[in-house]
Amino acid sequence: MRILSGIQPSGKLHIGNYFGMMRPALELQEKGQAFLFIANYHALTTVTEPSALRQGTLDVALDFLACGLNPEKTVFFRQSDVPEVTELTWLLSTVTPMGLLERCHSYKDKIAKGIAPSHALFAYPVLMAADILAYQSNLVPVGRDQKQHVEVTRDIALKFNNQFGQVFSIPEVSIRDNVAVVPGIDGQKMSKSYDNHIEIFGDLKETKARIMRVVTDSKGLPDVKVPETCNAFALYKLFATDEQAKAMADKYRAGGHGYGETKKALHQLMTEYFEPLRKKRVELEKNMDYVESVLKKGAELAKAEAGRTLLMARRAMGLG
Ligand code: ADP
Ligand code: TRP
Repeated sequence: MRILSGIQPSGKLHIGNYFGMMRPALELQEKGQAFLFIANYHALTTVTEPSALRQGTLDVALDFLACGLNPEKTVFFRQSDVPEVTELTWLLSTVTPMGLLERCHSYKDKIAKGIAPSHALFAYPVLMAADILAYQSNLVPVGRDQKQHVEVTRDIALKFNNQFGQVFSIPEVSIRDNVAVVPGIDGQKMSKSYDNHIEIFGDLKETKARIMRVVTDSKGLPDVKVPETCNAFALYKLFATDEQAKAMADKYRAGGHGYGETKKALHQLMTEYFEPLRKKRVELEKNMDYVESVLKKGAELAKAEAGRTLLMARRAMGLG
């Protein structure tokens, strides 16, 4: 089974990225042949500073390696090291109905947030389809907000296969139901673009300050509280064992429990959880040649695979 996912290097990774995409993707490393890439072509739709893109790309590489990406098992690469996907994007564009792209929430959301509506932003899902289809992927682990893009990919692949013959595998999306959407400190979806995020490897003081700012309701200390609707509890649950989560929920329902206590417990569990990974990241940072060599080797394997698919697609369409 071929598993594939990508992430944009458009800012520091946060715990929404971690629980929504990174950890599920890393767990799937054991279940089949995984391809993971840093989507720097996609990031060009929003990152316009070259040095920020370069640095962001290396940061994502370090984050993934620190969080357990095993380069012996997983093909890890930079999207732009495989320019074959941009040619495939064009081929796929010719079978992509405008209406399919016009319906994409992500495009509408980004425009609503004030991002300039470029052609690339609109065509973003077609490049994503090329990423997925170039490697004949079967399973795509992503957060819920990317589900529609995988559905678009399926539609494009089915249409292509139908018109030109069987070239692409049809991918399935994989979403962890228990961590569908990680809330940010303001209670909306955690996202770097809302500045409501908690970085995985952020400054320790800043991380604590952000956790203490997590929005809760205004119930007083003695009041009975509802864990299911509490943001601090939702974040705590991500790091807690089932027993810890149950014990905390019981305290909410009993009254006499303050939200500050949940936040302190959350801070402690999160710090403990990421401590060994943080140490690993510091070590990796001293050895950027190694990081670069991992990405180069990954790119060679990815290029070979994407090249094969591209050739099939070109032939099927009557090119060359
Ligand atoms: P951001 O919203 O911070 O820009 P991205 O859109 O780059 O994050 O998302 C990268 C990956 O992380 C995607 O697979 C996405 O679904 C997942 N992800 C992002 N934010 C969350 C969240 N709050 N909860 C769950 N998954 C998330
Ligand atoms: N669009 C994805 C995101 O913002 C990143 C991405 C690009 C991706 N290409 C992909 C994810 C292919 C999965 C498969 O998170």
